[in-house]
Amino acid sequence: MSTHIGAAAGEIAPTVLMPGDPLRAKWIAETFLEDARCYTEVRGMYGFTGTWHGERVSVQGSGMGQPSMAIYANELFTDYDVQSVIRVGSCGAMTSDLAVRDIVIASGACTDSSMNRIRFEGLDYAPVADFGLLRAAYDASRAVVGSTTSVHVGLIFSSDSFYPARPELAARMVEYGVLAVEMEASALYTLAAKHGRRALAICTVSDHLVTGEETSAQEREQTFGAMVDIALEAARSTSA
Ligand code: HPA
Repeated sequence: MSTHIGAAAGEIAPTVLMPGDPLRAKWIAETFLEDARCYTEVRGMYGFTGTWHGERVSVQGSGMGQPSMAIYANELFTDYDVQSVIRVGSCGAMTSDLAVRDIVIASGACTDSSMNRIRFEGLDYAPVADFGLLRAAYDASRAVVGSTTSVHVGLIFSSDSFYPARPELAARMVEYGVLAVEMEASALYTLAAKHGRRALAICTVSDHLVTGEETSAQEREQTFGAMVDIALEAARSTSA
């Protein structure tokens, strides 16, 4: 087992879906996977491995925020030799080009976090998605949601604050093409690059920072399910 994941070597599949909420990890395992088995309950941050259409796949909670995501991503890459991580999360829309329940596939993730600034000693690194996973997820989205849900590919903003002291700073990012805000993708993309692995973040819009609109729990479950199907199909079609 690693410091924060109570799995034995080999218990985690090469491909891992990562929701922030560990109870979402449980829901994904119970709803989508066959023969799912829980491999860790350390700190209540559940992880499961099962199969989907015959392929082994794991689901691991990341917790909220980049420091928490970085702990789990680091251990998945270094202690369990995980090859691909697909974050499946929620985000807040920052522009009226998006609507609640839309899906955002993040091509890159800007951030206000100091994690990369410290790592690169003040230089700005541009954390980006793995192109193969990104393309596979976009292609899968056409089959999974068709025209029922808008799917956007573009930049997101990984914030360290759910309640930012100066929200206007993040809003400036919109002028430069940023679509939505969440709290984990930037650290995930950076760590995947460091370890030569693949990463992608797919998010459903749970709330709208411009209109104030929010989704109901039932709507969140429905759109979350479509996103999981997209992630699983992207994982399957890119697994070598
Ligand atoms: N801010 C940060 N993360 C989020 C939000 C938000 O408004 N909505 C969903 N994840």
